[in-house]
Amino acid sequence: MGLLLALELLLLLLALPRLFCASTFTRSPLDREAEALLQWRSSVGDGWPYDLESWKKGTSPCNWTGVTCSTTMPHGRDQGDAVLVVSQISLKWYYIRGSLDGLRFEDLPHLVYLDLSYSILSGPIPSSIGALAGLSFLDLSKNYDLNGSIPPLTGLPRLAHLDLSSNALSDEIPSSIGALANLSFLDLSRNTISGSIPPSICNLTKLTSLDLSYNLLSQGSMTCTVGTLGNLKKLYLSHNSLTTGLIPSDLVNLASLESLDLSNNHITGSISRSIGNLTSLEFLDLSNNQIMGSIGSIGNLTSLRYLDLSNNQIHCSILLTFSKLTSLETLALESNQLNGILPPELGSLVHLSHLNLSSNQFVGTIPPQIGHCRSLSSLLISNNLLTGQIPQELGYLGDLYELDLSRNNLSGAIPETFSHLNQLYMLDLSYNSLCGTIPTYMSAPLMSLDHNMDLCDNVYNCTPRCEAPKLDKEQQDMKHLRMLLPAVFVPFCFTCLIASITIVWRRRKLMKTTSERKYGDIFSIWNFDGKIAFEDILSATENFHQKYCIGIGGYGSVFRVELKGGIIFAVKLLHSMEEYSDEGTFHTEIEVLTKIRHRCIVKLYGFCSHSQCKFLVYDLIERGSLSSILHDHELAKELDGPKRVAVVKDVAQALSYLHHDCDDPIVHRDIKSSNVLLDLDFKAHVSDFGMARKLKHGCSSWSTIFAGTCGYIAPELSSTMVLTEKCDVYSFGVIALEVVMGKHPGDLLLPFFCRTEQTTKLKDILDQRIAAPSTVDEKDVILVALVAFACLQVCPKARPTMQQVYQALENRSHCPAIILRPLDEIRLQDLHDCCGTIKNI
Ligand SMILES: *[C@@H]1O[C@H](CO)[C@@H](O)[C@H](O)[C@H]1NC(C)=O
Ligand SMILES: *[C@@H]1O[C@H](CO)[C@@H](O)[C@H](O)[C@H]1NC(C)=O
Ligand SMILES: *[C@@H]1O[C@H](CO)[C@@H](O)[C@H](O)[C@H]1NC(C)=O
Ligand SMILES: *[C@@H]1O[C@H](CO)[C@@H](O)[C@H](O)[C@H]1NC(C)=O
Ligand SMILES: *[C@@H]1O[C@H](CO)[C@@H](O)[C@H](O)[C@H]1NC(C)=O
Ligand SMILES: *[C@@H]1O[C@H](CO)[C@@H](O)[C@H](O)[C@H]1NC(C)=O
Ligand SMILES: *[C@@H]1O[C@H](CO)[C@@H](O)[C@H](O)[C@H]1NC(C)=O
Ligand SMILES: *[C@@H]1O[C@H](CO)[C@@H](O)[C@H](O)[C@H]1NC(C)=O
Repeated sequence: MGLLLALELLLLLLALPRLFCASTFTRSPLDREAEALLQWRSSVGDGWPYDLESWKKGTSPCNWTGVTCSTTMPHGRDQGDAVLVVSQISLKWYYIRGSLDGLRFEDLPHLVYLDLSYSILSGPIPSSIGALAGLSFLDLSKNYDLNGSIPPLTGLPRLAHLDLSSNALSDEIPSSIGALANLSFLDLSRNTISGSIPPSICNLTKLTSLDLSYNLLSQGSMTCTVGTLGNLKKLYLSHNSLTTGLIPSDLVNLASLESLDLSNNHITGSISRSIGNLTSLEFLDLSNNQIMGSIGSIGNLTSLRYLDLSNNQIHCSILLTFSKLTSLETLALESNQLNGILPPELGSLVHLSHLNLSSNQFVGTIPPQIGHCRSLSSLLISNNLLTGQIPQELGYLGDLYELDLSRNNLSGAIPETFSHLNQLYMLDLSYNSLCGTIPTYMSAPLMSLDHNMDLCDNVYNCTPRCEAPKLDKEQQDMKHLRMLLPAVFVPFCFTCLIASITIVWRRRKLMKTTSERKYGDIFSIWNFDGKIAFEDILSATENFHQKYCIGIGGYGSVFRVELKGGIIFAVKLLHSMEEYSDEGTFHTEIEVLTKIRHRCIVKLYGFCSHSQCKFLVYDLIERGSLSSILHDHELAKELDGPKRVAVVKDVAQALSYLHHDCDDPIVHRDIKSSNVLLDLDFKAHVSDFGMARKLKHGCSSWSTIFAGTCGYIAPELSSTMVLTEKCDVYSFGVIALEVVMGKHPGDLLLPFFCRTEQTTKLKDILDQRIAAPSTVDEKDVILVALVAFACLQVCPKARPTMQQVYQALENRSHCPAIILRPLDEIRLQDLHDCCGTIKNI
């Protein structure tokens, strides 16, 4: 009995502190946590995002955005004691600006999950974070400005996921990291961590993913004993200064490894044979190192899908050993010293989609078996020592997107089968010894065939002795079938195109046709009210008499047509009906102009296609072309400063519309002052779309014929024939300068190529026939000149888009400071120096 009493007394004594606590500290754990969080919030102050409004004093933190609670039993297993505690904070993407200093981790003892990634936190990670004994997930990545060293992590034994990537953390990785026995994911990439990889990392036996790339790690050699890191699947150590990395002997421990990236380090020597033990490896990147000699037994890694050994100094003949790697999708071996022949066994890599063997020393011929790699989309073998003919079989690689065989010594004709390469975007066969003609149907937006002595695009002046590549016997039958197809399809499609133009045309409600009634094969003539027809136009112009002619362009003469009843319009009669090329420009112009409508683009009312004559009917733009106005002293005076600025804006607006607001960008290709027409209000209208080209979004095109007008053609178009919207941007730059100067800039364009200092002052090149601009207007003049200079840059990429140009001209307030300087002071060199700013508006 006495014993029982004593026991009871003991229990009471034990419970006493609890009773005591309960009476003095009435706050629950949740209150303490809420207070810690609110204090952090107030320390962050203005850096607290608007959408975290719910964090309010007096409310439960369990209802706050980003906070999750769970129940816990702090005092043993007694159900009655279960309390709510904050267990997760997940504020990814909330962009909290501030530091972690104000966050009292010791008051958040139940936290299991903390994600503050993609915020704007700066300063150090406090070592008090070690108070989070139960934490299993910590993500502070993508804050970019968290700095200082990684705190000792000994207090976080349960941590399974640690991501501190993309910050500014420095110093060495603490060796205490080895204490995180439960860690399976570790990402410290993209910091400025230095030193070597601590050996204690080998204690992290549960690790499945380790990323230390993009740091300043050096001399790291992870010599872990056999069996450790046996769960590692992903190991990324690229972009450091490692010299030996995991090569040679450490690799054998990593039996589960699937991805290994050691690229962009300073690894030298050869690759250990033991790499062949990594039989699960699917991704291997050793590029941009100084690896020489043997590459071990990579040929045994039959699971490999991605292999990049580019930019090393590997010099043996190795390709044959890769024929077992039948899962390969990417094989990048460029920029090594590989020699020997290209083995026919390459044909067994049927999943290969990217093969780059450029800049090596391969000899011999291209094996026709490469034609078996039906998944190839990119085949690059430039800058080797290949000879012989291009195999016809390459033409059957239907998915081919890029083909570069340039800078070899290939001979013979371009295979006719290349006409099947419908997906081809880039074709480079330059710097070879090819001969013959370019196959008619072959097309690729980016095509270079330069520097092939005997290759020509004209059948008549070609050397007759040019051998066409032969097919392997088995392929012969296939060839007949395949070659037949284009011959049947192409004329058919041409008919469709013409028919579809007609259909589109007829659908336009406002434009009823009176076609094919009595005028033979007329396609379509628009009319205002159903009464005007071909006949009326002929009689109004007395069969296109000279006295009605108001202009002669490259592709036709323009007539003024005034019908009875006062309806006036312009008719462009196409030149010489015999010339085949007119057909193309005629239909291009119709196709383009029927689909677009813009205030600053001339309106097409209709067209006529008759065996005897072809013409187009437009809105008449009364004042004629900008070029003719600038040539005439009286008219030029009438076009004063502000009107000129308005003209430049109109043209910019029209081009911005063509390039950016149409379904597919349209490149005009012949922007010049004689194709800009001014109406009675001096509003500019862009005309003459005979040369226009539609581009696929984000693509360029290649030019079959040399289009454009001298003095307005972008330099890259004449050298590479690559057509992009930036060609129009250049021509626009010429016009803008022409408008300001009153004449074509001529020699003023040369310094753009020669980079000579331009000391001439801007005011000295302005058109002297009009009054000097007022102080208000001179800002516009400077801006137009600045935009012109930006557009005239030699490198197409450096030029702004027309959208940027138009915005710059419209919003003067966002413009660079140079326009605030007095006109008198500005030299042309100043415009050169800061024209890059137009792109940033
Ligand atoms: C959260 O808010 C809801 C109402 O919005 C309330 O019913 C609930 O009790 C709150 N929960 C806590 C833990 O305060
Ligand atoms: C960390 O960044 C702050 C500014 O955000 C700077 O004042 C401090 O010196 C930096 N500390 C270290 C160790 O780089
Ligand atoms: C280890 O991490 C896992 C999550 O990966 C977790 O479920 C487990 O509870 C952790 N173990 C310990 C002892 O913390
Ligand atoms: C790593 O493990 C070894 C033994 O396996 C132990 O001696 C060492 O202290 C551990 N290192 C750390 C940092 O935990
Ligand atoms: C690679 O394969 C060859 C033959 O298949 C074999 O002799 C060699 O031992 C293998 N090497 C490795 C490292 O597995
Ligand atoms: C690696 O492969 C080689 C040859 O295939 C073999 O002799 C060696 O024992 C393997 N090493 C390990 C650790 O499995
Ligand atoms: C192929 O290799 C060449 C030569 O090193 C390189 O310039 C080119 O960028 C590579 N192409 C691709 C698509 O990787
Ligand atoms: C290219 O090959 C031709 C034979 O097809 C040969 O006459 C010529 O010398 C070779 N040129 C170079 C640079 O090797």
